[in-house]
Amino acid sequence: MQQNPIPFLDLVTPHIELEQELTEVFQKVLKTARFIGGPMVEQLEKNFAQFCTAQHCCVLNSGTDAVRFALIAAGIRQGDVAFTVPNTFIATVEGISQAGAIAEFIEINEQTYSLDPGNLKKYISEQCTYDSKSKTLVSKRWQRPVKAIVPVHLYGQTADMDPIMEIARQYNLTVVEDACQAHGARYFSKKENRWLTAGSIGDAAAFSFYPGKNLGAMGEGGAVTTNDAAIDRTVRMLRDHGQVEKYIHEIEGYNGRLDALQAGILDVKLTRLADWNSKRRACAHYYTEKLSASKKIVCFREPSWAESVFHLYIVRVPNRKEVQRHLDNEKIGTGLHYPIPLHLQKAYTHLHYRPGDFPVTEKSSAEILSLPMFPGLTKEQQDRVAAALTAAVGG
Ligand SMILES: Cc1ncc(COP(=O)(O)O)c(C=O)c1O
Repeated sequence: MQQNPIPFLDLVTPHIELEQELTEVFQKVLKTARFIGGPMVEQLEKNFAQFCTAQHCCVLNSGTDAVRFALIAAGIRQGDVAFTVPNTFIATVEGISQAGAIAEFIEINEQTYSLDPGNLKKYISEQCTYDSKSKTLVSKRWQRPVKAIVPVHLYGQTADMDPIMEIARQYNLTVVEDACQAHGARYFSKKENRWLTAGSIGDAAAFSFYPGKNLGAMGEGGAVTTNDAAIDRTVRMLRDHGQVEKYIHEIEGYNGRLDALQAGILDVKLTRLADWNSKRRACAHYYTEKLSASKKIVCFREPSWAESVFHLYIVRVPNRKEVQRHLDNEKIGTGLHYPIPLHLQKAYTHLHYRPGDFPVTEKSSAEILSLPMFPGLTKEQQDRVAAALTAAVGG
């Protein structure tokens, strides 16, 4: 019997379910012609800030701009160094480079796939010098001041933020969370003895509303959240040609605005986000339950301090190419996030990294496989994925 395909991501169903509300947004924009700025944008900013428990939110036209603007607004300047990880989407590093900074990579943690605080500490002690008088950390690699850390909340799970924030405060570094994959993810801060939400932990955070994200527009979008009013003010200027008011340009900025139509759409979808995230969590737990008996499949494990929103559900398998081909034959969609780490990309040859520089990242990038993951994924579909995957690895 011919089986129905299982997509890697189903973007059609949730939009059809919201057809009426989304159409009303379009009609409102059509009738008012408020295409740029205005109440829809302001409403989304208020609601998304609240969702992230952050004081400010400035919506933008992409997550890449969000990383770039957050860093510029936090005072990162030409030739400064920013630490980040090599296993992320290229946009993290594009944001750093386009803010004028140099990306310097820190090895990830093998279990969490995000910035390892122990590695960060070790790297600083071995590869940097600290001038306590000027409170400046200097990279030996570049002989340039290190000014920022950009931890990436990959796959929907925050990095281990308490120690990262502690290191940042010790060395006077700005922290910009790359929360582009982590809308609503939570982190248990031992220091504060409470759960914190992604986007409210660092000095600022970048979000993407690319369609496939947990909260996605029907086009491009992004946001910076922060508890720092000065950062928010500068991001607002940067997105609008450096204007503080019409024709008054305090700085040179960019055109980084989000359309009102996208803001209205995102605001409708935001009302469903908590429910969608909990459905993703349930799907992830079901995958783990079905797959953890296999000795050949390494499942994604949530540490006790994390409440992931499972933007992606990844496993590690030894024979990935064959596994992916087998699942493809079974009409099951999969993805790779990410198959070539950034330090080995041609775009970054000028950073002078070599194969072997980040063994944990390199090994995981060769083994990771992203399984179908979206809120409407059914148990029957997951049973089929689990059976096909188990057969493909040979038990
Ligand atoms: C980790 C990460 N950072 C940054 C971005 C950039 O976001 P955008 O595609 O909205 O520019 C993305 C999204 O693709 C991402 O996954």
